[in-house]
Amino acid sequence: MLQGRFTSALSGALIVVTLTSCSPSGASDRGPARSGTAGASGIGDADFPTDGNGGYDVGHYTLALGYDPASRRLAGTTTIDATATENLSSFNLDLRGFTVDAVTVGGRSAPFSRSGDEMTVTADLRKGVPFQAVVTYQGEPQPVRDSSNLGSYGFIPTKDGSFVTAEPNGAKTWFPSNDHPADKATYDFRLTVPDGVTAIANGELQGRPASSGGKTTFVWRETHPMASYLATMTTGNFLVKTGTSEAGTPVYAAVDPRYQGQLTRLYELSGRITDYWSTIFGPYPFKSTGGVIDDYASGYALENQTKPIYGGFEPDEGIISHELAHQWFGDSVSISRWKDLWLNEGFATYAEWLWSEHQGQGTVQQIFDRHYRNAEDPIWNYPPGVAQKNDLFNNSVYTRGAMALHALRTQVGDQTFFTIIRRWAADHQYGNATTEQFTALAEQLSGQKLGELFGQWLFDKGRPTTLG
Ligand code: TRP
Ligand code: ZN
Repeated sequence: MLQGRFTSALSGALIVVTLTSCSPSGASDRGPARSGTAGASGIGDADFPTDGNGGYDVGHYTLALGYDPASRRLAGTTTIDATATENLSSFNLDLRGFTVDAVTVGGRSAPFSRSGDEMTVTADLRKGVPFQAVVTYQGEPQPVRDSSNLGSYGFIPTKDGSFVTAEPNGAKTWFPSNDHPADKATYDFRLTVPDGVTAIANGELQGRPASSGGKTTFVWRETHPMASYLATMTTGNFLVKTGTSEAGTPVYAAVDPRYQGQLTRLYELSGRITDYWSTIFGPYPFKSTGGVIDDYASGYALENQTKPIYGGFEPDEGIISHELAHQWFGDSVSISRWKDLWLNEGFATYAEWLWSEHQGQGTVQQIFDRHYRNAEDPIWNYPPGVAQKNDLFNNSVYTRGAMALHALRTQVGDQTFFTIIRRWAADHQYGNATTEQFTALAEQLSGQKLGELFGQWLFDKGRPTTLG
């Protein structure tokens, strides 16, 4: 699903291509052009020019995949239900590594070629017409090793399975995709693993896992649109606890046996914090909540939709509150360009501060003041409103992004501030949004001009003087 802003930018670009490729003699009496143009190899994010692809909009992915932890082989099919947004002669998918055995489009074998992490599929597709592409592939997943963005990410083999955390562009390490958050889609997962291994994906488990011939298939379904980086196929030995939160949301918690002592705590905190955020941010946007602790020592957590994951540590309440706040900010309301990442991380960090205050620990104001007092903090050199492509996850995007929200709150007052936050979550639920849309909403609901405040907190270098 593409959001309006992006779709129109893309069609604008492609119309230019179409016009310039018309022959000067004019083709008007030949009727509509027979063949379209090649779909772009990027979705249009200037900082990540080959992430995602142009010319189509994915509605649904069906991933039917088997993984064998012993051989580290992933094999199966990805089915992509999409709609062309232009007349196309070919389109691209993002895929890293693997041997592709076959591609079909509309049930017919389609020629394809590969170059780096781009796969080009030849197919004549008409604007506005739905199509189905099926890719059959196998091989050993190759996670992305990236020193500037938090180390390895994507599909990471572990000693008993896989740890799948794909932000910002690691979906391509396990399925062919339009790998950019601007094109969200719903998902079905049919994951087959050796008996005794648990396979965890997003959304809800459909029925009981079925075993035959030494293998078990887990069927999961995510019915709400999801960014590709939030999709997961985490496998291994897990202890699982399921139930329902006090407010009635189903909870799925899973821990590697090494974290056995954490299972009940993770289960209860995940339900309780989800319920609390629902009272602050508005109704929980998904059908279930939960969390996963694996023993792969990534040292970080990721807000995988409905299934935040914690990599090799006992998560404290701060990080659980952070990942669950992302379910509203990042997962339900998603960015359409990576430079707007503070809309995810600033909001989730602000939520941590709210949780601290709610627990009777440091208040939001105390935490803000502590950061503000540190005049030497490198966050003052990095304006968080424009995340830098080589340093997306800089502490400023988190901490100074959260401080920007607190400066806004101080300026407009508690009531208007929380109205803005709830309206943001409601207006863009399941969609995409930009920083400009957030600042416009804040001005509209407060009736104030906030250019100076947002300028100092989000866009200018130096420690702001406007404290709200
Ligand atoms: N979004 C994560 C958080 O703030 C951090 C993160 C960024 C991450 N890139 C990642 C986690 C890659 C895992 C993998 O909680
Ligand atoms: Zn985060």
